Amino acid sequence: MQFELTRLPVTEQPGGCVAVGVFASHALAPSAKLLDKASDGAITAAVKAGDIAGKVGDTLLLRGLPGIAAERVLLVGCGKAGELNEGAYQRIVAAAAAAVGKLHAAEAALYLTELAVTGHDEAWRVRTAVAAADHALYRFTEYKREPGRRHLKTLAIGCGGKQAKALDAALRQGQAIAAGVKLTRDLGNQPANVCTPTYLAEQAQALAKAHGLDIEVLDEPQMRELGMGALLAVARGSRQPPKLIVLKHLRGKAKAAPVVLVGKGVTFDSGGISIKPGAGMDEMKFDMCGAASVLGTLKVAAELDLPINLIGVIPASENLPDGNAIKPGDIVKTMAGKTVEILNTDAEGRLLLCDALTYAERFKPDAIVDIATLTGACVVSLGNHAHGLLGNDQKLIDALLAAGRTAHDRAWQLPLWDDYKEQLKSPFADLPNVAGREAGTITAAAFLSAFTEKQRWAHLDIAGTAWKSGKDKSATGRPVGLLVQYLLDRVGG
Ligand code: BES
Ligand code: MN
Ligand code: ZN
Repeated sequence: MQFELTRLPVTEQPGGCVAVGVFASHALAPSAKLLDKASDGAITAAVKAGDIAGKVGDTLLLRGLPGIAAERVLLVGCGKAGELNEGAYQRIVAAAAAAVGKLHAAEAALYLTELAVTGHDEAWRVRTAVAAADHALYRFTEYKREPGRRHLKTLAIGCGGKQAKALDAALRQGQAIAAGVKLTRDLGNQPANVCTPTYLAEQAQALAKAHGLDIEVLDEPQMRELGMGALLAVARGSRQPPKLIVLKHLRGKAKAAPVVLVGKGVTFDSGGISIKPGAGMDEMKFDMCGAASVLGTLKVAAELDLPINLIGVIPASENLPDGNAIKPGDIVKTMAGKTVEILNTDAEGRLLLCDALTYAERFKPDAIVDIATLTGACVVSLGNHAHGLLGNDQKLIDALLAAGRTAHDRAWQLPLWDDYKEQLKSPFADLPNVAGREAGTITAAAFLSAFTEKQRWAHLDIAGTAWKSGKDKSATGRPVGLLVQYLLDRVGG
């Protein structure tokens, strides 16, 4: 989708549709008032007649209004009059974009950045509107013979005349975030017969080429050389060769310690010998969404040329049962030298991640954040709304929590107390890879913490948030919003 800013009065904005806000109280947002005046009260009449209740996300389409340039007017419910929160604002924009996207119109405009959002300025409202609208208009149709036509080409964002530079920057940021989120969603939605570890590596190569990033892809012999026994153990059950993808966006000061993002890249998780039940197993193609979010975030950093040193590390593998696969009770040696007793081959994410986290140490990072669809327990405890967040550095965790609130891509912290670490005992090895049913998200993070003792580290469990199930099944692109906001906050942008 093409986005642009428009500073035309809403009555003069041409195109197929202009969208404006109305409140549940029947009050009109400023642009709706202007249209109402120009059209001799057509909007007040529709609202008074009760054709739109004004709840957040309600929409009503009006055509043929006199006195205005656009062909149609879309009224969008904004809830209770007064300031909005981040989530309501996003929902309002998304509802408007979705409704406009269904019209037979190539151009439309949203006059919604005039809505006040508590704690945020117009630049935030522009950036968020672009990202939210693009998200709402996304469809993955690569494998549909009849994908259905999309008419909308350009979406204009109505904004004030002041702060032109800041708003232009906000538009660019919004577009970059939209592009990064789209990449993350596209990769996630790809079926696992296409999206293999090799495919992920190729996509990373393409990204590096397009944006001038450094890239290195380690193959199995190189990983063996490094002693990545845990990562390689997962890959044994698959005919697809594993990859360790390392991407670098080095645009910060030469000596500035980098931020390293480590993304779980299991391109299909059958569970391995500890095989999963059949129902819903297709969704385990999404088990590489952490990896996809790392690529999406790097894309945004590159497009915005953020002055930061940022490195992405992606351990990629399938997890399948095979005659050569790891078995419950097998013991492997990690790159860090610690041995692990694999009690459940379905707890494979932490096996990939522990070696990738050890590998990340070589970059002497300022902070490591890993992103992983790691535990079903996280879906149980937080549902689809918040990412699980744990780590060993409260300042880093607080920065990520704050970034999640700003981007409305929220995380919630779980405790990583030593008490939980005591659950991780193996009679035969240094660590088991599972520690019973209780507190599964925390004990998974506790396992990872044994490989990040020397680092400032945080872990995002995105098992509940990386994709949506049901009839609108799709990757969500989360937590690219949170991660980009964290980077923007770091560089003061
Ligand atoms: N990829 C899964 C986690 C997952 C499950 C994400 C369902 C989203 C939805 C992970 O590899 C896994 O299988 N975890 C196990 C760990 C258990 C064996 C300790 C789980 O959560 O059941
Ligand atoms: Mn698993
Ligand atoms: Zn998994």
